Amino acid sequence: MSRIRQLIAREVLDSRGKPTLEVEVHCTSGHWGRAIVPSGASTGGGEARELRDQNPQWYEGQGVQRARELLHREIAPAVKNMEVTDQFAIDKLLVELDGTPEKGRLGANTVLGVSLAVAHAAAQVQGCPLFVHLHRLWLSVPEAPELSDPWPPKIPLPQTNMISGGLHAPGRMAVQDVLAVPQAAPDYPTALEWLVRIHRQLGRLLVQRGLEGHLVADEGGYGPQLKDHRQAIELLYQAIHQSGLRPGEDVLVAVDVASSHFWNGTHYRLGPQWLLTPEEMIQHAVELAQLYPISSLEDPLHEEAWSDWARLRRQLPPQVDLIGDDLLCTQAPRVQKGVELQAANAVLVKMNQVGTLSETLRTMRIARAAGWKCIVSARSGETEDTTMADLAVATAAEGIKIGSVTRSERLAKYNQLLRLWEQVQRHWNP
Ligand code: PGA
Ligand code: ZN
Repeated sequence: MSRIRQLIAREVLDSRGKPTLEVEVHCTSGHWGRAIVPSGASTGGGEARELRDQNPQWYEGQGVQRARELLHREIAPAVKNMEVTDQFAIDKLLVELDGTPEKGRLGANTVLGVSLAVAHAAAQVQGCPLFVHLHRLWLSVPEAPELSDPWPPKIPLPQTNMISGGLHAPGRMAVQDVLAVPQAAPDYPTALEWLVRIHRQLGRLLVQRGLEGHLVADEGGYGPQLKDHRQAIELLYQAIHQSGLRPGEDVLVAVDVASSHFWNGTHYRLGPQWLLTPEEMIQHAVELAQLYPISSLEDPLHEEAWSDWARLRRQLPPQVDLIGDDLLCTQAPRVQKGVELQAANAVLVKMNQVGTLSETLRTMRIARAAGWKCIVSARSGETEDTTMADLAVATAAEGIKIGSVTRSERLAKYNQLLRLWEQVQRHWNP
């Protein structure tokens, strides 16, 4: 038994130098936990809301001092003396305390900071690694569909950002990420070595072609000035090949189109002179999947185009995953709707899109019950916090999307997966 004694919140900075919230939960037993909240740039309209100060004198209005204040004034007294291992009851209380559908009053950042710090503290109290505690929670989510399989912890397959565009490299190609997926790597350390090898080779290839191959974008991918995403996919294809790996066999290509951000209400604006109607965009997505060794397409259609998504799903080859990020926003009702319409077959999971650990786990259970894949994702604004890596392993997610294999806020997660890989080998997969 260990009860919550004190919450401490502070304003710290994320990988873009933008304020975010760090939360500590201290328990009566002396154990404590800490978490830092990430933040997106290419956010979906259905996401839970971040609370920011709007004070132009402090970090151009992006401060989180009010979130910190609310946490100390309202959340801390409400959760005081609750059993720290009772994650579901604590999250339920946080949701009720906020009282709005989009967490607009307390802020999804405020609520998630507490929810995750509670999980870290609870793992400490039980003397187990975080992913083991999260795995137990995953198995016992209330009001969630039954799990058909035991889902033991597993290291997910990375989708690693190689070339960036969209809102993560403004002024470059419209499509947001072209990623490498080392599907045939025999284990995680090998997958990581392949990814670093490809990333280095791609940098050299870009320089040889007279393109920018040194500077990197928000998630550590290169941001060269290219004609369009097809050129990016071709360059990655060559870099994979030049790395001594077989594109299409050893390594596949994933694309996060993030198309809501270049949808103008009638057309998808893929370039200054390249506008596609929804019908043409569906055809273009199908062609990409035919031309290149594509493993998944994320948000190829905008976030409210439900019936177009369902049409695309019917036309795509079954082995190409259709992942909903801005479409689904990690929200249970949106995933439920997606399942009913057969609008996708995979959900991108970002905890701050919904605001609590429990709600995230429930969304993943709904996806699982429908036979969908789960890809746990970082945000473009990240920190040294590695909770998302533990979540992916705990829930046996098929994929993980962290960004590139540069920049410490990304490598913190890749390195955490190396540690978890050892533990999973030892205890679950000897
Ligand atoms: P975001 O980007 O964190 O800026 O939303 C990640 C993504 O779109 O997958
Ligand atoms: Zn996305």
